Amino acid sequence: MIRFGVLGSGKGSNFRALAEVFRAGTLGAQPVIVLSDLEHAGILDLGRKFEIPCHFIAPGPFRTKMSPEAEGEIVQLLREAQVDFVVLAGFMRVIKEPLLNAFPGRILNIHPSLLPAFPGLEAWRQAVEAGVPEAGCTVHLVDSGVDTGKILGQSRVPVLSGDTAESLHARIQIAEHELYPRIVREFAGHLLPRD
Ligand code: GRF
Repeated sequence: MIRFGVLGSGKGSNFRALAEVFRAGTLGAQPVIVLSDLEHAGILDLGRKFEIPCHFIAPGPFRTKMSPEAEGEIVQLLREAQVDFVVLAGFMRVIKEPLLNAFPGRILNIHPSLLPAFPGLEAWRQAVEAGVPEAGCTVHLVDSGVDTGKILGQSRVPVLSGDTAESLHARIQIAEHELYPRIVREFAGHLLPRD
């Protein structure tokens, strides 16, 4: 069985989509731990509901990244949980060392745009403000940049006239909930199981 850990800061709808698909363990991969930098994040409540071990990690003094100590704690928990790879599901901090080095080429992220367009925050708002006819979401490997790693898969959604940032984000999220489990399944399928 391939084991993966999930990191998130938000309501956790992508984690929910993953947990619903993978929790039975019939796909050869399973989420085994959920970690958040926010004590009251919805993703932790969801993790408990799915009976997956959940932990809040105090992020330290920085706004956009975890302190090295906090990342060290994350690495330790992921190792203790014997995870093979890591899935970011709405994790709002940039990944640094030691986490990047602990799972090289084994950290996935989902971003709400057709990368390389609109990296960074509130990509759906950026798309509406730019007036593009099409938006979407991208699953990619995490490297030391912001939303720059190798692209593993994308889904497209139209931008409709009258769309607000919120209505476009809602449409993108529907696409995310189909794309992320599919790509995670493919990725896990290429890893060798431990047992
Ligand atoms: C998603 O739109 C994802 O693309 C971005 O953060 C959001 C997380 O949403 N990285 P949720 O917590 O999974 O609902």
